[in-house]
Amino acid sequence: MNKVPHHIAIVMDGNGRWASKKFLPRVAGHRQGVDSLRRCVSACGQRGVRVLTVFAFSSENWNRPAEEVSGLMDLFVMALGRELPQLQADGVRLYFVGERRNLSVKVAASIELAESATRGNARMILNICFNYGGRWDIVQAAARVSAQGRPIDEASLSSAMALAHVDDPDLVIRTGAEQRISNFLLWQAAYSEFFFSDKLWPEFDEAELDCAIQEFARRERRFGRTPEQLDGPSPCAKLGSGQG
Ligand code: IPE
Ligand code: IPE
Ligand code: MG
Repeated sequence: MNKVPHHIAIVMDGNGRWASKKFLPRVAGHRQGVDSLRRCVSACGQRGVRVLTVFAFSSENWNRPAEEVSGLMDLFVMALGRELPQLQADGVRLYFVGERRNLSVKVAASIELAESATRGNARMILNICFNYGGRWDIVQAAARVSAQGRPIDEASLSSAMALAHVDDPDLVIRTGAEQRISNFLLWQAAYSEFFFSDKLWPEFDEAELDCAIQEFARRERRFGRTPEQLDGPSPCAKLGSGQG
C-alpha cells in the first residue's frame, strides 16, 4: 500500500555537530542545512507530500551565542532570496510561522516578500517555523480567541493557531539523534507518528526520507480507538488526513 503522508513536519537538527565533525564553524553547518532542505522540499514534492513544515529557528534559539544568531539571520535572508526562483518554478507556497514582532526589519521584509511572491502557488505548501515555539503558538491563539470574546475550546483554539491553514502533521521527523520535541508542534502533533533519525540534518537525503515514509506506512494510527474499529469513519477529519 502506498500511504504517503499528506503533511510531514521536520525538526532539522544536527547542523552544529555536522560542522564540528569537519572542524568548521557552526554556521557552515547551517549553510549545509539549507542545501539539505532544498533537496528535501524537492524530494517531498516528487513523492506526493503536499505540506512540509520545518523547524528553522526556535523561540529558545535566541539564547545561542550572538555570533551564531546573527549568522543564522543573515543566512535566512540570503537563502530566501536565492531559493525563491526555484520555489516559484516548483509551485511551492511559503508560509512563515512564528512571532514576527521581534525580528529585524531585514528578516521581516524578506518574509513578507517571499510570502506574497509565492501566494499564487498551489502545488505544495512549505511552512517555515521561524522564531517559533509550540508554547508561544498556544498562548497567542488563546489571547486572540479571548480578545475576540469567544469561548476557549478546541475548535476556537485550533482556528487561531499559526498552522490553522493546514491539517495536522501525519509524520514528524527529527534528525540529529535526539528524541525530544523541543517546543515544536505541541498542539498539532497530538496524533502524529514520530520518526527519529540518527542522521545529522545536512546528511538527511532521499533514502532516509524514504525510510521515514516506509516506516509511516507500517504504522497503525488508531486515534484512541481499538484496532477492530479502524474500518469505520475517521473520528476526526483534521487528524485523519494521511490515512487515505
Ligand atoms: C539545528 O541544528 C538548527 C538550528 C537549531 C537553528 P543545531 O544548530 O541545533 O545543531 P546541533 O544540534 O548543535 O548539532
Ligand atoms: C530544535 O533544535 C530547534 C530547531 C531545529 C530549529 P535545538 O537544537 O534547538 O533543540 P535542543 O536544544 O537540542 O532541544
Ligand atoms: Mg540542535
